[in-house]
Amino acid sequence: SAHTRRSSSGELTVAGVGVTDLVREFGTPLFVIDEEDLRARAVAFRDAFNAAFADLCGGVDVYYASKAFLTVDVARWVTEEGLRLDTCSGGELAVARRAGVSASELGLHGNNKSIAEIEMALELGLGRIVVDSLDELERIGRVAEATGQRANIMLRLTPGVHASTHEFIATAHEDQKFGLSMVDDGDGSPAERAVAAALSHPRLNLVGLHAHIGSQIFEADGFAVAAQKMLRFMAAIADEHGVELPELDLGGGHGIAYTEADTPRPASELAEALAAVVRSTIAELPIRCPRISIEPGRAISGPAGMTVYEAGVTKTVAVEHDGGTLPRRYVSVDGGMSDNARPVLYGADYTATLASRVTETDAIISRVVGKHCESGDIVVRDVYLPEDVAAGDLIAVPATGAYCWALSSNYNYLARPAVVAVREGQTRLMIRRETEDDLLARDMGA
Ligand code: LLP
Repeated sequence: SAHTRRSSSGELTVAGVGVTDLVREFGTPLFVIDEEDLRARAVAFRDAFNAAFADLCGGVDVYYASKAFLTVDVARWVTEEGLRLDTCSGGELAVARRAGVSASELGLHGNNKSIAEIEMALELGLGRIVVDSLDELERIGRVAEATGQRANIMLRLTPGVHASTHEFIATAHEDQKFGLSMVDDGDGSPAERAVAAALSHPRLNLVGLHAHIGSQIFEADGFAVAAQKMLRFMAAIADEHGVELPELDLGGGHGIAYTEADTPRPASELAEALAAVVRSTIAELPIRCPRISIEPGRAISGPAGMTVYEAGVTKTVAVEHDGGTLPRRYVSVDGGMSDNARPVLYGADYTATLASRVTETDAIISRVVGKHCESGDIVVRDVYLPEDVAAGDLIAVPATGAYCWALSSNYNYLARPAVVAVREGQTRLMIRRETEDDLLARDMGA
């Protein structure tokens, strides 16, 4: 994160607090969140997109995709910085409410929202419920009728653009669980039928369209192609129904650097590239530019978080290489796939550093592994770490602020780590570490 440094003694510090002190107070594994860094990333997205789109649609609403990492504090921080909040379950909604986020600034996603979740969203009067299918459109309509409420909805469409890191692909057909297809199936497209049904429903207020094209995306071109497709579809809706939908959400997926190999674009570059395409597209269409919104998750919280582990057992094995063998040293740490499932789920790459001290010994190729009973339990596949790394050393893994704590589990009955915020030399415990009592609390045989 932005405030990570080496102190004069060689120890890693975050916002002025040394990892040794953090670990003495809060234990390991530990998630350390650089609060100012997270806030600054929220502000960077807010300012970059608002500046780029100011003359086009009066600015951009940035919704933090809370699935990436949500606690009551995080919900407060991002809304204090002028962001809104995207949720995708009743549980995330409950956290947002506890943080005092106003209902008009909340969105609700999900391909299978329960009736209870829909009822909760309607009762709160959410700013937007993002409808994922025709089936769900009817379901929300029925709940709204039964409860006498009106639902603000967006329709999630699949514009056929799938993007990741450096590429995007444009496909004509969709075979995935999310969203309404824009492909004509003989009776118009599901997207067209959903628009017609939403506009004619007395209890549904269609505020706009939504598209989310992927994750860990570095380039603006995939977003641009999706935006073009969506804007043209909005012009077609205006033509057919005489209605200019006021909002267009272009989803999240903005990439971050996990290792040195990753070189994401700054938010301002993405915003300007996207605004240029929206400007030229809208110039050719007979509609005004809708209000644009985006939903970054990882790009806000990911780089702001770091995991600190304590090293334990090490061993070195000979690996075959080029007809000979090379040594590979394994360093086991006191967490693993229960606090970071991304390597085992997605083959995700991270890096690691010896955090508690510096040393003059040579760096050797190392594999940082967890303590779970699975051989796939890898934290960092290949990283150079000093030869003398040994039990008791602290190992820090950066960029773990998104989809790590959020995806954490109690596999092998490991307790979930604590999460601590650091800011200007001060610490604040955000989530306390689980205890053995927590692990047994719901076991009715205990
Ligand atoms: N909006 C929608 C509708 C989404 O489905 C997502 C993520 C986002 C926004 C935020 O995407 P972000 O900006 O964070 O990339 N667990 C996976 C990522 C799953 C993303 C799911 N949807 C991972 O750790 O890579």
